[in-house]
Order: sequence, then structure tokens, then C-alpha cells
Amino acid sequence: MTARSLPFGGDSHILDLRVARHLVLPAVNGLLLRRGKAGPTSTVPAHHSTCYTWTYERDQPRLAKLTRQARAGQWDPDVHLDWNIQVDVQDPAVDLFDEASSPLAEFQAYRNLPVTAQRDHRAAMLAWMMSQFLHGEQGALFAACQITESISWYDAKLYGATQVADEGRHVEVFQRYLDDKLQRRYKINDNLYVILESLSRDPRWDLKFLGMQILVEGLALGAFGTLRLSTKEPLLRELLRLVISDEARHVHFGVVALERFYSEELPEPERREREDWAYEMCVLMRNRFLAHEYYEEYWAHAVSRREWDRISLESNYMRRFRHTMFRRLIPNLRRIGLMTDRVRSYYEKLGLLEWEKEKAAPDLTADDLLAA
Ligand SMILES: [Fe+2]
Ligand SMILES: [Fe+2]
Repeated sequence: MTARSLPFGGDSHILDLRVARHLVLPAVNGLLLRRGKAGPTSTVPAHHSTCYTWTYERDQPRLAKLTRQARAGQWDPDVHLDWNIQVDVQDPAVDLFDEASSPLAEFQAYRNLPVTAQRDHRAAMLAWMMSQFLHGEQGALFAACQITESISWYDAKLYGATQVADEGRHVEVFQRYLDDKLQRRYKINDNLYVILESLSRDPRWDLKFLGMQILVEGLALGAFGTLRLSTKEPLLRELLRLVISDEARHVHFGVVALERFYSEELPEPERREREDWAYEMCVLMRNRFLAHEYYEEYWAHAVSRREWDRISLESNYMRRFRHTMFRRLIPNLRRIGLMTDRVRSYYEKLGLLEWEKEKAAPDLTADDLLAA
């Protein structure tokens, strides 16, 4: 199988120069300079405007309802999660991370290891995956802050305030689980760093929405659901259940806001740019799941990165992952009007249109997601 025919091959770009202009600098910082791994902090300048609203008009009942639901659904990591549960990565009675949920299952060098070493590897792979969730949640926290500042609708600002609190909780629970239970944490994946930096820099509020609420969070919803099905560890299962119930609201918020803005307010040429941007982000997100940081720690001495990528991309894990990820994303892109005939052919080439008719937010509930 050639790179061109691999699932979700990376050479199907639309080549929209307006999109490329906004991605070049974050791509240099993330992929070449590896800024996300360079030190204990990264500082990214923001270019959006803060919008004060003086009318305080409550004119969006759907967002007001969502705000009430968010306030009623707040939970406390200290109260609602049992942190006394002991996590033993070697306990054969509690399957911490099902190997079929990672590329490891089809990796012969892993299969040759003793059972205890295989359990260590699965715990490391889980820590890698959860570390990327942690970093993504930090990005979601700042995106929620920026959206709350820059959007002009009062109802959206009130809702945004609840999301800021949600994302702060998510950062905390992933960090605590990694530090206290798995006792390891990985640095941010370079591709994820590019996405987060480009969202922080972009001055346009709707792109922060599109990038974070629809794409990154839509993908995270799929990933959280898959991971929840892959573990029998009770603390992690409950943690993910609580996070999923919040994230379902966040994606709902993105769909409600963008559906109105893209259909009623944004000029057509700019809407087309959003179509292309969303597609390029989907392409970029593929590479974030190749577990390069785990590979560098354990296998770089034995297997080339090209071979690792080939095994990962062709694995059942990646096929399943692609399925859960895009099953959530594609219907939402259709719902907000970014899946027109012009770009459908690109998605079709990647084999992603099979989910076009699936339920989109807000019809898709947290219960649907937990049952997935
Ligand atoms: Fe979150
Ligand atoms: Fe979120």
C-alpha cells in the first residue's frame, strides 16, 4: 500500500492560499521549531478584539436554555469522583486499556514482549493519549475565554462563562489522573500544537468556534467515547462520563452559534474560506493520533518512523478511530453549512462521507454519545 492510498492520506489538499496564510506561522513554530516542547511555557500573541455589549439583550432562547442546563450540570472533581480508587497498571483483573484500542495490537515487536511489559506499554500509550487530551483541554479553556470576550451576543457570553468553568475542570481531572494514577505525562504533539496556536492567533471569533467547538471538541467527543469503551478502570470511566456530558453541550453551542452566523451573516466568499479551512484542519488532525511521542520513547531505536506510521495508519485501531472521530464531525459540518458540493468531493476521496446522514448536534445527546 502506498502513502497515496493509505486511509486519510495527507496529500489531498485544497490549496486555498487564504487558509495557508493563517497556518504558516503556527506550522513553522509547531513542526519545525517544536515550540510546544521547547520549555515549561509557550506564549502566543492573540489578535482578536474584546467586544463589550451594552444592550444586554436576551434574544437567543436556545443559548439561554443551554446556559441553564450547563449551570444545573456543574460537577466538582473533589465531590463527584472517587480519587481514593487505586490504579495498578499491572492488575490483570482490571483491564486498564484494551490493546485493540491502540496500534500496538498489530505491532509484532510489542507482541513479542512478556505480558508484564505489554501492560506497561499499554499504560504508556494510555498516558500518551490522555496527555494529548490534557493539552487539548488547556487549548479549549483559552478558546472558551477568547470566544466569550469576542462574540457580540450577550446570551453567548453568559453561556461561554459556564464553558470556561467546564474546561478548567477538564484540565484539572486529566492532569490529576495522569500525575496521581498513571504517574507520567507526555509533551504536546506537534500537530496539536499547530492547531492550538493557530486558534489562539486567529482574530476571527467564528474560526475559534469552528476550530475548537466543532472540530477539536467534535473529535475529542469521539475519542473520549472510544477510550471509555476501552477501559474497565472505574475512576477513568466515570471521569470520562462527566467530561462527555459537558462536551456534548459545548459542541451544541458551536453548532447553534455557527448555524446562524454562516447562514445569515457571513458573506459567501468568506464562508467558502471556512469550508476550506475546516477541511485542512481535518487533514492536520489525522497526524495528531500517530502517537509519535510514545514511539520516540519506546521504539525509535528499533523501527523507522515511516514504518511506525504505516503500521498505525493501516491498523484496525486507526480505522475504528477514524470512524468514531468523523462520525461526530461530518454531520455537524453539514448542519452549519460547510459541507457543500464544492468540498464534498474532497471528503469523499478520503472516504468520510459515509457519516453525512448521522445525527448532528443539537439532536445528538450526551446519552447518544455515551452509548456510542
Ligand atoms: Fe473540555
Ligand atoms: Fe469543551
